[in-house]
Amino acid sequence: MQPFLIAPSILSANFAKLGEEVDKVLAAGADLVHFDVMDNHYVPNLTFGPMICSALRKHGVTADIDVHLMVQPVDTLIGMFADAGASMISFHPEASLHIDRSVQLIHQAGCKAGLVLNPATPLHYLDYMLDKLDYVLLMSVNPGFGGQSFIPSVLDKLREVKSRIKASGREIRVEIDGGVKVDNIRAIAEAGADMFVAGSAIFNQPDYAKVIDAMRQELAR
Ligand code: DX5
Ligand code: ZN
Repeated sequence: MQPFLIAPSILSANFAKLGEEVDKVLAAGADLVHFDVMDNHYVPNLTFGPMICSALRKHGVTADIDVHLMVQPVDTLIGMFADAGASMISFHPEASLHIDRSVQLIHQAGCKAGLVLNPATPLHYLDYMLDKLDYVLLMSVNPGFGGQSFIPSVLDKLREVKSRIKASGREIRVEIDGGVKVDNIRAIAEAGADMFVAGSAIFNQPDYAKVIDAMRQELAR
């Protein structure tokens, strides 16, 4: 069993002082930074690109940066994000014409690679890819916005993904993204997740450490 990781999504941070926000949330006990890239094409919202990622590195952020690409096309941004300091890059398979190639590009760029499945995206996307992945990211909301409610049917899907991973015999992490809160993180972990993205649950509270500690307490129970 790999240790649980908490990955605050900076989508809910105050962008006017992003460097400070990231420092604060890491000092509060976050394990890594989740970086939501939206293009107003694959998803109906627009956020930030590689320049902001490299600005965070220049600011002194040394923690892993977990880049979640909600973009189409995918491949052109992979090298740019790797150069900008990304540690992990995930993409939505239906947004890539050549899924295996995109994963290869991520690995060649020196990053960990993940596939992201939306709540209604079938698991068959994992069929020929699972062995090549470092992690699977399951969306527990429809992508595009922070602050949405966790979709409970994803728990069954999570169990299914976890059992496929077990059968593969490989250590592949399962990340969950969307609507993760202190009061559901335990059930999500029991269903098989080991990396937890949380945006609004952390950044909408005044004391980030208090939320992260409460999440860890739930996970340790
Ligand atoms: C949604 C993003 C999420 C989002 C999570 O498309 O991928 O990372 O920021 O936000 P919360 O935790 O508020 O649901
Ligand atoms: Zn995300």
